[in-house]
Parts: sequence; C-alpha cells; structure tokens
Amino acid sequence: MAALALSRPVAVVGTGTMGQGIAQVAVAAGHPVRLYDAAPGRAREAVDGVAARLGRLVEKGRLTAGERDAAVGRLTAVGDLSGLADCGLVVEAVLEDAPVKRDLFAALEKHVADDCLLATNTSSLSVTEIAGALRVPGRFVGLHFFNPAPLMPLVEVVSGFATDPGAADLAHATALAWGKTPVRCSDTPGFVVNRVARPFYAEALRVTEERVADPATVDAVLRESGGFRMGPFELTDLIGQDVNEAVTRSVWEAFFHDPKFTPSLVQHRLVQAGRLGRKSGQGWFPYGPGAAKPSPRTEAPCRAPAEITVTGDLGPASALPGLLREAGVAVRAADPAAGQAAGQHTDGAGPGSDGYAGAGEDGWSADDAPWGWIGLPGGTRLLPVDGMSSEARGGPSIAFDLALDYRACTRVALAPSATADEADVSAAVGLFQKAGKEVSVIGDAPGMIVARTVVQLVDFALDAAARGVATEEDIDTAMKLGVNYPAGPGEWARRLGGAWVFAVLDQLNTEYPGGRYAPSRALSRYAAASGTGR
Ligand SMILES: NC(=O)c1ccc[n+]([C@@H]2O[C@H](COP(=O)([O-])OP(=O)(O)OC[C@H]3O[C@@H](n4cnc5c(N)ncnc54)[C@H](O)[C@@H]3O)[C@@H](O)[C@H]2O)c1
Repeated sequence: MAALALSRPVAVVGTGTMGQGIAQVAVAAGHPVRLYDAAPGRAREAVDGVAARLGRLVEKGRLTAGERDAAVGRLTAVGDLSGLADCGLVVEAVLEDAPVKRDLFAALEKHVADDCLLATNTSSLSVTEIAGALRVPGRFVGLHFFNPAPLMPLVEVVSGFATDPGAADLAHATALAWGKTPVRCSDTPGFVVNRVARPFYAEALRVTEERVADPATVDAVLRESGGFRMGPFELTDLIGQDVNEAVTRSVWEAFFHDPKFTPSLVQHRLVQAGRLGRKSGQGWFPYGPGAAKPSPRTEAPCRAPAEITVTGDLGPASALPGLLREAGVAVRAADPAAGQAAGQHTDGAGPGSDGYAGAGEDGWSADDAPWGWIGLPGGTRLLPVDGMSSEARGGPSIAFDLALDYRACTRVALAPSATADEADVSAAVGLFQKAGKEVSVIGDAPGMIVARTVVQLVDFALDAAARGVATEEDIDTAMKLGVNYPAGPGEWARRLGGAWVFAVLDQLNTEYPGGRYAPSRALSRYAAASGTGR
C-alpha cells in the first residue's frame, strides 16, 4: 500500500503539545499542513511554535535553512473546519474526552471528502467508540504518536471494529513514509504499550507497599540488574503520578476491573497528597533546589568465600558459575547423587534436563530449588529467584534476583530468609561483589523485583498477542521504542524459556491468590511448547 501522496494536505486538529509535534512530523515529511484549534489564535501560535522548532534543527545542523523555509511555507493556520476540505488525512489531537472527539469528527465529516482518512491520537479512549458517530466509519483509525512526536519513533496504528483494512494500511504506510516505526494493533484498552506496560509500575508499587525495598532501591535494581533505562518510580515522577494513575485506572475500568490491572492504593494516596512528581516538586522523590535523590540500599564490602559448590544449572543464571570462576572463586559442581562436590562445574544440565536436584541430606527436594543452587560455607543455599518466598520454601536460603545479563549487570538484589546464617548472607554479598556487582539486600518477596516484573510483562504480552491485539514481534518493537525496554517481552521469553516464566508466575499465583498472577492460557501454551522446565 502506498503512503498518502505528499501533495495531499494533512490537517492537525488540536494544536497543543501533541498536535504541534505531529504537524512538525507531517510538514517535515513534505506535506502541506493545515492547523486548526478551537481556542482563538492557538493555531497561529502553533505555526510559530513549529517554525521555531524547525529553526532549532537548522542551528543543530539537522536541517538546511532552505528546507526550514520550505516547510514553514507549507504550514497554514485555518480559522474553521471548512479550511480543511482538501485534506487527505486529518489527525485529531484535541483534549482526551470522547464526546468532544465524537462531536468534532461528526462536524469534520461535513467538510472533508469521503476518501479523507480520519485519525485520532487518543491514548486511552476507544477508537471504536469515537468512530461510532461517523457516517463513513471505515476510514477511521487510531494514530497514536508518543511524546515528543518528532523524536519518538513509535506510532500505534489502531483498527477499531469498523476500520477498513485499507484505511489501516494507508495509515501504516504513511507513518512509515514519515520516518516512524508503526505497529498495528486492535482497539484494546491501552493499545499495545499502555496495556502491556502496566506490570512495570504495578509490581514496583506492590513490592514497595509490602516494604520489601524502598523506591530508590527498586529503581536501581530494575535499572542496573533488569536493564531498564529508568526505574518505575523515577519514571512515573517524570510522567506525573496523576497521569500514570489515570492511565492505570482507565485500562482497569475498560477491562471491567480485571484483577490483573488493579491500580495501586499507595499511588492513589500519593496523587491525593498532590505529590505528582517533578512538576509538583515532590513525588516518590523530592525535586527542586537542594533536593537530593535518595540512594539505593547498597551493601558495604564483604568477603567472598574462597570456594563454592554449585548444584544444578541455575536456570537463567547459568552464566554465574563461570563469572565467579573468572573472578577467582573456586567453583565446584556437586554430584547430585552423592550430595557432595565433584570437580569442576560442567554446563549442560539445563532446566528440563535431569533430576540433579534430588532430595538432599537436609531434606531439600527439586521442588524447593528447581533450578539448582550455590552452597555457601555455613550451609545456606543461594538460589536463583523462582517465585517462591524463602518463607514458603523453608530452610535457610538466599534468593538472588533475575538479571537481564548477569555478566553486564552492575547490581544484584538478594533476599535472605529469616533463618539464613548471617555469615552466609555476608558471603553471598561478597560473592557478587567479587564479580564486580553492587548488592542490595531486600526483604523476602516471592519473585523479588526484576523476575516478578518480567514474568508479568511476558504474560501480558503473550496474552495480548493471543487475543490478536498485535503480533508478538510488533509488541516487542512497541515496548522497545515506546517505553525503551532493553528487550521486548517476547525476546525475554525466548531467553528465559517459557517453562521458567510459567513456573515463576504460577508460584506467584500460589503465593498471592486472587487472579493477578494467574498465568494466561497463552503462557501455558507457550510453556508447554517449550518443554516442562524441570
Ligand atoms: N501529551 C501526551 O504525552 C500525549 C501522548 C499521546 C497522545 N496524547 C493524546 O493527544 C491528545 C492531545 O493531547 P495534548 O497533550 O496535546 O493536549 P493539549 O492540552 O496540549 O492540547 C489540546 C489542544 O486541543 C484544543 N482543543 C480542545 N478541544 C478542541 C476542539 N473541540 N476542537 C479543536 N481543538 C480543540 C485545545 O485548545 C488545545 O490546544 C489527547 O487525546 C491525548 O490523550 C497525548
């Protein structure tokens, strides 16, 4: 499908933050662009605003003065909707209110031709609902740009119930021609990004509510271990707690209060208190003159044990024994049958491969540590996070959290059980420090911080894909470009294995009954197709 011809004018209705950004994108691509806003004088101001931003691009050497002048020459402010009659595409970016948008499109249809593509930039309303008032609803799509539109590559192309495939194709091809990376999705609450991203905020809020770790530590662990560009607390302070909470609420309401999307009481209280984030000078963290951001909990240097014994393959942390060996720790592999050390660790016993973790002398079984463990000198087991709290597991243990890449990560979180030997906690801290990591010791929480977030993101993504919201590939693209995730949920699932993701989420579901962590059918199928995991 060809993109909209550059000769066809594009209209932008509503010339606030998003409208101006979208107008800049369309005019830079080469279209004549007409701007309309209900507030008198605002469209004219928007033309000046776009011209000024194009001017800054000239200063930065990204645009020539000639290109800027030509683009500014293609921008026109119009005083009423009749000035949009010759447009081939109208992108609406007025305030987020369904009746206002419906009335606007009903009025617009009286002026534009029947082949004019109509698009809304809504971020949370139903495209189907807005199109409900139209005479020709087949030409209506969602064209969801991200802020700032000239810089953010992602555009969600949303098909409502009535959208003709040809209209979605034209919108997709046009966004592509404008230099964007469009992904197609169906009309679902939150579309792709705002639907799939909910657990990123929700899990951090829950961990903090349960006093497992403070916000600065949660942020640091997700950044430095999980590989996320920003932690959820600093990010929502930037977005605005009110804005983030409103999105969460609207998605939850649109899903008829599905427990998977339940908003957070603590975030609600923050909003009620007026602690909206950077814009109000205080959110999770203080801002303004002299304000210092709290530091994450970071352990003081500890001594690493000279030797450790590894039983099993450690699942997603299978690179760890090699790393520790490189750091100078003697790593021995246990003989599962004899329950004692038996020479160097050899790779190969992956999840799903064998029965290495048979019941040991201390009564531990494969169910207590399905992905193996590191034996510490005092008898405490150091194991990769698996969704079980240390309390539920019983026996002295220390869980360590998931990292996107154990080699590259700079921080690891540890959760000791109440019964863990104190000297072994120091030894575990020292072990990771010896491998060059900062360590945060946190409370005993099933799924810790990174793992619980990632398994929920994977589940939400697979569920969305199974329901036809978007392809797995487009969901990965959307999460990487829309919210800067270091890997898409599909990529994470392939890395971790469906069986591991399922097992961790299933365990969380046992620890927190109520539906929030119930694995989706899509994840069960994915796990079944990728092996049993033990
Ligand atoms: N700001 C964001 O980060 C962001 C990101 C993606 C999508 N969106 C969506 O884009 C839309 C616009 O958001 P914004 O942040 O640019 O808002 P904004 O408040 O900056 O601008 C809205 C503009 O619409 C005008 N307007 C209001 N009613 C109108 C009408 N009936 N006809 C013509 N103009 C009208 C207002 O005068 C104002 O200039 C919303 O639907 C929002 O959900 C916003």
